[in-house]
Formats: sequence, structure tokens, C-alpha cells
Amino acid sequence: MTESTTEPARQDLHPTPTPPAISFPQDRGCPYQPPAAYEPLREAGPLGRVTFYDGRPVWAVTGHTLARELLTDARLSSNRERDDFPAPTERFASAQKRRVALLGFDDPEHNTQRRMLIPSFSLKRIAALRPRIQETVDHLLDAMERQGRPAELVGAFALPVPSMVICALLGVPYADHEFFEGQSRRLLRGPAASDVERARVELEGYLGELIDRKRKDPGDGLLDELIHRESADGPLSREELVSFAVILLVAGHETTANMISLGTFTLLRHPDQLAALRAGETTMAVVVEELLRYLSIADGLLRVATEDFEVAGQTIRAGEGVVFSTSVINRDGEAFPAPEALDWDRSARHHLAFGFGIHQCLGQNLARAELEIALSALFERFPRLRLAAPAEEIPFKPGDTIQGMLELPVTW
Ligand code: HEM
Repeated sequence: MTESTTEPARQDLHPTPTPPAISFPQDRGCPYQPPAAYEPLREAGPLGRVTFYDGRPVWAVTGHTLARELLTDARLSSNRERDDFPAPTERFASAQKRRVALLGFDDPEHNTQRRMLIPSFSLKRIAALRPRIQETVDHLLDAMERQGRPAELVGAFALPVPSMVICALLGVPYADHEFFEGQSRRLLRGPAASDVERARVELEGYLGELIDRKRKDPGDGLLDELIHRESADGPLSREELVSFAVILLVAGHETTANMISLGTFTLLRHPDQLAALRAGETTMAVVVEELLRYLSIADGLLRVATEDFEVAGQTIRAGEGVVFSTSVINRDGEAFPAPEALDWDRSARHHLAFGFGIHQCLGQNLARAELEIALSALFERFPRLRLAAPAEEIPFKPGDTIQGMLELPVTW
């Protein structure tokens, strides 16, 4: 026997170390930067591997072009009732198998649901809502001014703006806001799985009773319209109405609230960009779009493969999970030159902060209108707005939920 055949293969003697699996999601080190631990994913992009809390390996999409391709690929399903749907956290796993309108369905069912809601979120309908949003914002700023400085901006402004607007849009009494804000918070970030389940049951119970009352005594909100809107199979069932109400109420206030709080914090931490905005060198519409890209607060869109297919030199197998890290995708240098810069001069409109494809955010026109009005009015009312505590001491949300500030002490 020759030496070469008796010598063990080199990799047996010196096994190539497997790179440590990157766990997902992780906490941000700075509330407006993606977690530093995701950096190797970006470098290796556009398709990498991460592991979820239970050790399950999942494909991670981090390239912008590939993300747009895969978010429009019908071989990736959003159906959360499937046994193989990936759960990034224990909390998500505990809520799985529950009916989630729109986001939890594939076409054609998804399309049927979405068509029922689209008219209520059209640009025209949202434009008509602007005066009401402005009124809400002005009223909250009056109260803040009356109360005097300092103020805690999340509770005084960032949360009530979208909460009041979505209540008015849906026809939900704002008087109940503490109840449903609390339930949504527990749903999105409950301390324990059982807590999430209880929050969902209580919120569904509340909205079911509200719908029953509205059937007898109609009002003029979107829920009232839906009660009377016919689908191809006749009127919507109580269960369907409740599931629409839950997603609109939860998605409609928590996300925008976080953009207002984190957007304000980010502007206060970028004095040059804030000065350019104040000097009229850009418009609030441009600022909002770039903040959406830069902050990517909904980080980790989920899908599962329904068949084997090849993409980016890899084979994704049926039943494997796929996660889209929007914070990394929206910093892809090929789509956004010098992606680390918060830059009003770039065109950021093609960011994926609202997703892409059939599930692209239904409420994006509303969110943009709220953000433009809220941030413009806030910085106009308080030209000397500043943080009332050292930036490093201000708490922000952990990585397993929508990103945002937990509190935002400000003064002026
Ligand atoms: C700045 C605020 C917001 C952000 C960053 C945001 C982000 C997103 C993202 C990323 C998706 C896609 C999820 C996926 O593909 O898995 C989505 C879907 C959705 N969003 Fe938003 N959203 C915001 C505000 C709103 C508002 C104000 C509403 C409603 C009033 C809303 C309602 C929805 C609904 C219903 C869907 C599911 C659409 C479908 O599956 O067809 N969102 N959102």
C-alpha cells in the first residue's frame, strides 16, 4: 500500500471547524443598527443559515434582489397552520396554529381576504383621513405642552397617535385603548407562552362582543363595513370578522408607534441630518422613507418551502423554514450604496421594510401618513426637542419583537 492511501484524509486529522451557527433573532446593541452578530450573514449573503430558539436550522435571506425574488415565489408558504412552519421564538410557537387573517394564508384564500380590505386602505381613503390624523396629533401635543417638560414620549405621543387613528378607522371605542394596547403588547412580547395565549383569547373575546354589538347597533367604522360586506361565500362569519379585527388592531398601532419612537430617537442622535430637515433641505416624506429602510423595525419575515427548489446555488427542501432579515436586506450595498449612512439624498423607496409581494403591508399608506404628520408636528412644536436622559440609558425593545423604544424621555 502506498503512503497516500494509508494516510488518513487530511480533513480527518484537522477537521475544518464548522462556523458557529448564528442564532436568530438577536438583540440589537444599538436600537437603530442591526445586531452586530448578523454581520457574517451579510458578508456571506444573499442566502445563509441561522438557527431558531429550538435549534432548528433555517435559511436566512439577506440579499435585496434575492429577497424580492423569493417573496414573490409561490413555493414559499405563509400558512402558519402547517406543522412545519418555522417558529423563531417559544412565544411564536405557542400562538401557532391559530388563525391569522391575511398574513397566515396563501393565495387564493389570501387574495379573497385582501380584496375585501384594499378599498379601505387606498391612497384616496388615507388622504381623506389626514385631517383627522393631524387633529389627533395636535391634540396630543397640546396635552404634552400643557403637562410641561420632561415627557415620556412613548406613552404621551408615539403610542396614542396610531392607537387613536386605528380605533377611529375600525370603529373601536378608544376608551378601551388601555385594554387592547395591553393585550397586543402581551401578544407581541408576553413574558410566557401561556400569557400570549390568554392575551389572544381575551382580545378575541373583546372584539367578538364588539362585533355582536355592532350588528345590532351599527356605527361607521371599517368593522361595520365588513359586517355588511359580502364575500363570494356570503357574509363574513363572526370568526373571520374577529380575525380581521385582531390583525388590523395589533398591526395597526404597535408598528407605527415603534417607528415614531425609534424615528424620533434616531433623528435626535443624528444632529446633522435633523438640521438638514429643519433647514428645509429635504421633505418629511423622504425622511420617513429613509427611516423605514434604516430602522427596519419588522425584522424576520417567515415562510416555509412547499417543494424542493434550487436558488442562489443552494437547494431549499420542502418543509424547510426561510426567514427574511429586513434589517440586513435593507443594508445591502448593491441596492443602497453606502448603506450605513442615514442619507436623505438617496432614493430609499425600494426598501423592504413593508415586505414585498402578496403580503406587502396593507397599511403602508396609513403608516406613511401617520409618520409624516406625527414627526413633522413634533419637531415643529418643539424646535429644541432633545433627550432627557443619556442615550445609552434609554431602554429599547429586545430582538424577538418589533423594534422600538420601550421609553423615550424627552425635554424641550
Ligand atoms: C411603520 C409601520 C409598519 C410596518 C413597518 C409594517 C410592516 C409590515 C410588514 C413587513 C409586513 C409583511 C409581513 C410578511 O410579509 O410576512 C406587513 C404586513 C401587514 N401589515 Fe403592516 N406595517 C406597518 C403598519 C401597518 C399598519 C398601520 C397596518 C394597518 C392598519 C398594517 C397592517 C398590515 C397587514 C394587514 C399586513 C398583512 C398583509 C397581507 O398579508 O396581505 N401595517 N406589515
